[in-house]
Amino acid sequence: MLVGRDEEAAALRSWARAGRSTVLVAPRRFGKTSLLNRVQADAERIDRMPVILVDLYELASTSDLVIRLERAWARHVPGRLRGRLAKALAGTELGLNVMGTGFQMRLADRPQTPPLPALHALLALPDQLAGKGSRVLVVFDEFQSIGAVNGAEGLVRTYVQAQRDTASYLFCGSQPSMMARIFGDQSRPFYGQAQRFELGRLNVGVLTPWVSDAFEEAGRRGCVPTIATLMDRAEGHPQRSMLLAHLLWQRVTPGQRPSDDVVDIVAADALAAVSAEIVAMLDVLPTAEKKTLRAIAEYGTPLSSRALRDLNLLKASAQSAGAALIERALVERTADGWRIVDPLTARWLRARYPTRPG
Ligand SMILES: Nc1ncnc2c1ncn2[C@@H]1O[C@H](COP(=O)(O)OP(=O)(O)O)[C@@H](O)[C@H]1O
Ligand SMILES: [Mg+2]
Repeated sequence: MLVGRDEEAAALRSWARAGRSTVLVAPRRFGKTSLLNRVQADAERIDRMPVILVDLYELASTSDLVIRLERAWARHVPGRLRGRLAKALAGTELGLNVMGTGFQMRLADRPQTPPLPALHALLALPDQLAGKGSRVLVVFDEFQSIGAVNGAEGLVRTYVQAQRDTASYLFCGSQPSMMARIFGDQSRPFYGQAQRFELGRLNVGVLTPWVSDAFEEAGRRGCVPTIATLMDRAEGHPQRSMLLAHLLWQRVTPGQRPSDDVVDIVAADALAAVSAEIVAMLDVLPTAEKKTLRAIAEYGTPLSSRALRDLNLLKASAQSAGAALIERALVERTADGWRIVDPLTARWLRARYPTRPG
């Protein structure tokens, strides 16, 4: 179930219909992939625009890219175009097939097969598939991974430019800064190509009634008074909001009134649920970034003299670590100062490693 995002989905579809390329950016877990799925369903149903969704997560090589593209086409091409896709793929004589398994089989057979011809053939598909006046929407999720494959970024660009009438492209990525670099750096192939679309937090004023309705419809009216407090705590972070709602659901027996301290219990459940994931995230951060994150969690800024002193941080390293945390989309700058993107990470840090009295 997708809360909100009606306007976002409609905007992305209308840009796609108009033939514009779009880059969708947001921190991890803000619902990018969920929104892409919604756009795909709507575009196919309402616009009859086929949407080929390609997941580039942890892309490793050109062959890997070929395999993912072939699979994506096989999986997402609508029934009415399946015959045409089969014909186009067979025509390439590269072993590609409409089941999405051709290139893998070819590689098993002949491990030395060069992947580039197959990559060209797959990137050229919109020209063969789009009918008169209609276009295909090609969506690349986790597009920042394209950087791992030498030359792929430039190649995709070539096709994007050549397919102005047959395809629209939607590039989606979870590291805003990396996406900004791909699309904003003049020395890189995508400079100035695509329009930026930032996916923000969910509105707490929309979340609260939506979640409340869901509880009420399921005979859990007793929980409703606590939902606003929980949604406030999630600060509009999409996945965290859903997690807190889910934990509340699990804690309270249907038909019963929740106890007075249910918010605290659910908050503790949430910290326990995310603990392993936060430890894993912290493990890969350099020390100065860890300290800076803690300083923000506790003091709201890494630059106050108390924060610097208590965490044994130099101002210059706090500044550069802060910038790095923003690049990683773990931290954002707001009108009021610094903010940890995930409210549960902030709470967890305060609960686990306090340097000041609670
Ligand atoms: N608008 C939303 N409504 C309901 N759940 C959402 C929403 N956005 C995100 N979620 C939930 O948050 C989780 C992460 O979403 P996902 O789409 O995978 O994020 P991303 O691709 O940005 O990392 C999913 O479990 C999803 O169900
Ligand atoms: Mg995703």
